[in-house]
Amino acid sequence: PTALTGRHFLKELDFTEEEFRGLIELAAELKAAKKAGTETQYLRGRNIALIFEKTSTRTRCAFEVAAADQGASTTYLDPSGSQIGHKESVKDTARVLGRMYDGIEYRGDSQQKVEELAAHAGVPVYNGLTDDWHPTQMLADVLTMTEHCAKPLNRIAFAYLGDARFNMGNSYLVTGALLGMDVRLVAPKEYWPAEEVVDRARALAASSGARVTLTETLDEGVRGADFVATDVWVSMGEPKEVWDERITALAPYAVTMDVLRATGNPDVKFLHCLPAFHDLGTKVGQEIHAAHGLEYLEVSDEVFESAHSVVFDEAENRLHTIKAVLVATLG
Ligand code: CP
Ligand code: NVA
Repeated sequence: PTALTGRHFLKELDFTEEEFRGLIELAAELKAAKKAGTETQYLRGRNIALIFEKTSTRTRCAFEVAAADQGASTTYLDPSGSQIGHKESVKDTARVLGRMYDGIEYRGDSQQKVEELAAHAGVPVYNGLTDDWHPTQMLADVLTMTEHCAKPLNRIAFAYLGDARFNMGNSYLVTGALLGMDVRLVAPKEYWPAEEVVDRARALAASSGARVTLTETLDEGVRGADFVATDVWVSMGEPKEVWDERITALAPYAVTMDVLRATGNPDVKFLHCLPAFHDLGTKVGQEIHAAHGLEYLEVSDEVFESAHSVVFDEAENRLHTIKAVLVATLG
């Protein structure tokens, strides 16, 4: 057994700095082993349920491939194909799946649902994204930072630009604070995380030595940053009506080459959890273009396709880090 055997993975706040770092180290080891063809299977014969009440590419595929690599099998429950949330409560679902599976992943809207699932399942439950937190994404982002910056974590500075009230903003703030990093959220004040989340982050920073900055001023926010990150301006589950307001408020915070230059760091790297609106290559992108005349939203195609962009390393790292969570909790 490991220190995390039997644990849930619901939000960053549930972990110590040491535990979180341990998962990053394990992910790096598992990644190296897979690349070398020497991966050991720790999860043979295990079964993992994957509940997705919202759609996914990376998270679902990462769980499925991680489980397969480790000798475990998965059942994918899509947003409409089971009784969950329609005919059966979260609590009953937890008790049913807990009898059949060794672990359960859940993606949906409310954090409270994944916490309830965890309270009744009797097996480890993993948060694959809620409106409040995206903790498996944070493991991938931090692993990617360690790969692309030679500094120790507690000397790395990163700036997140955009809507910071939702899962990605909350998770970046708390993760940076937990790990002793220099974390900046750069957004209009109305788009900052809830006061309660900021308070938790400041409390963590007081013991980790992290530097926590919330600012509306772009230049101040990005100066000296090793990484600049952003996310979509309208998240899954939000209504179409918010588009106008988001575009007006957040357009000055789009990640362009000028923003990267403002860091003063020629080696600055760009992160995005994806999916991203950086060109007209998607149906949604074309709709935005037709309605607002914009060719990109949160990040320009120039940045996205530049040598600064490490978004596909970040996407790949979803696999290795989710595998680390499975191995640590079930192995
Ligand atoms: N980044 C991320 O969670 O992607 P998916 O929505 O495709 O899982
Ligand atoms: N904030 C985005 C993240 C997607 C991975 C959303 O919730 O849709």
